[in-house]
Amino acid sequence: MRRVIIAGNWKMYKTPTESINFVKELVEKEKKYDNRDVLICPPFTSLYPVSEILRNSSIKLGAQNVFFEDVGPYTGEISPFMLKDIGVEYVICGHSERRNIFGETDEIINKKVKRVVETGMKAILCVGEKLEQRENGETFKVVENQIKKSLEKIDNIENVVIAYEPVWAIGTGKTALPEQAEEVHIFIRELISKIYNKDIAENLIIIYGGSVKPENIDQLMKEKDIDGVLVGGACLQIDSFLRIIDYRG
Ligand code: 13P
Repeated sequence: MRRVIIAGNWKMYKTPTESINFVKELVEKEKKYDNRDVLICPPFTSLYPVSEILRNSSIKLGAQNVFFEDVGPYTGEISPFMLKDIGVEYVICGHSERRNIFGETDEIINKKVKRVVETGMKAILCVGEKLEQRENGETFKVVENQIKKSLEKIDNIENVVIAYEPVWAIGTGKTALPEQAEEVHIFIRELISKIYNKDIAENLIIIYGGSVKPENIDQLMKEKDIDGVLVGGACLQIDSFLRIIDYRG
């Protein structure tokens, strides 16, 4: 049975002070579930103070990005070891905002995923097509290409979570229909089965991201191959994030 992951990607929102206040309230109000993991991914500057608050809670800590070297003259970068040291368990790799605004390629993302899993953390590999690509019928081809390149020479795939985040659904309020997302999730599982094997594919956690809200979470989670969600905007308010965590699937 695959565990459910409900992850909040804060993107570039909340100062350390705002983060501390938010997480204190979240920890107080969050219910415990046996079958789901809750994860928050604050900005780098908030990770350490938030990790201290999460120490006695079941909520896990994730980072939004990482560099693929361990130490060295890389001004402005953060290494996997630094994240691991403060209790980060998951790292988002290849978010479409990193790909499209900061020019991250599949080759760079591959190196990041590799170092994250080698360092003993889990990588959340983001893939997804742009609107034009969907309209041209290229969704599967784009996703296949991103997955094949980003997972090249990565054996410990059990430490990888795949997040299907169609770019046209991110921050637009336009969620993929549950069946549209499910179709791509099934495609990803079949692809992983071909690249690795059926067992690995069956155990792979595949989550959906793109305008997930309290209004659509229950429908999305009813789909068999949607194992959780990566939430942007709706994870920034306690009540909406709590409602998403408390989905009825
Ligand atoms: P929104 O939920 O704001 O659409 O963002 C999704 C996302 O990019 C999560 O990583």
